[in-house]
Amino acid sequence: MKSVHPTLALNPLSIEDREFIRKLVMKGGPDPSEYQEFTVIVNNLDDRELEYFREAIKDSLNENTLIGHGFVKPYGYPGDFTIIHNIYKLHVNPNVRYSNWDSFFQDQAGAHAVRNRKDYFLRRCAEVEEQEGDMKRVLILGSGPATDVNEYLKMNPGSKIRFDLVDFDQNAIDFARKQNKDFSGSIEYFKINVLRFKPYQWYDLIWSAGLFDYFKDKHFVYMISKYYKYLVSGGEFIIGNFSHSNPTRRLMEVLSDWYLVHRSKYDLVRMALEAEATEELVEVDMEELGVNLFLRIKAA
Ligand SMILES: C[S@@+](CC[C@H](N)C(=O)[O-])C[C@H]1O[C@@H](n2cnc3c(N)ncnc32)[C@H](O)[C@@H]1O
Repeated sequence: MKSVHPTLALNPLSIEDREFIRKLVMKGGPDPSEYQEFTVIVNNLDDRELEYFREAIKDSLNENTLIGHGFVKPYGYPGDFTIIHNIYKLHVNPNVRYSNWDSFFQDQAGAHAVRNRKDYFLRRCAEVEEQEGDMKRVLILGSGPATDVNEYLKMNPGSKIRFDLVDFDQNAIDFARKQNKDFSGSIEYFKINVLRFKPYQWYDLIWSAGLFDYFKDKHFVYMISKYYKYLVSGGEFIIGNFSHSNPTRRLMEVLSDWYLVHRSKYDLVRMALEAEATEELVEVDMEELGVNLFLRIKAA
């Protein structure tokens, strides 16, 4: 069916909502007192209204804002290394035409959960560090900016952990390498699709966050089976995934065209068992907000 340009058809958004959005665009995003009203509008948009909404807000959906960066996808996919790095660093564009949008985005539960998952990762690395042995190995699947690794190595300059980072985006690898140049002896980089990477050693921890939420169930299960066998005895495979209770879901979808496969604790355990993990060795953690879940599978 031929699509009708939003300005030519009958606009299904109410005049009040349109006026409210127009004002937000003019002043670079909502003030905290307007967060709720804006979120209610976004959460209640139906598919027919979505196009009109995006048209109304389009002057803010560009690379100057975090939401716009997600929408424009300069690297061709959502959740690229720059947006993740900027979430970690609580980046807010100082230009008043955009700063309220960034403050709003950084205040969302989804952004807090991403920062919480980094802290969760740092705690897991600290546990690995405590284990016996001269050297420990951590594999990261979909490593992105490696800001998490950077933080860990800055806090633990004498770390005995060697990190292997796998990412299929050369820009992400370049960024990660540059910010971690002081730790080159502790990190090896592999630019390859995780579906094809073949480890040549065993790991104490295999970590992946911000990656499996893009996989269909069958790829999720395949990835567990593929990598589980590369754990040392007592090692652990930990996979992060957004949960159904992510209150930022619709905002990410509407504002940033960023769609994830949200999963329950039950979904994660079911897929671990499908990949033939033993039930007693499987558990699910969550970060403080319960927005990011972590499937933990231990090696016997
Ligand atoms: C959302 S980022 C997460 C980065 C990092 N794990 C973190 O939590 O800070 C996801 C990363 O996975 C990478 N990625 C996505 N699909 C991939 C695949 N099939 N193979 C390798 N890397 C992939 C992307 O290039 C991106 O850098």
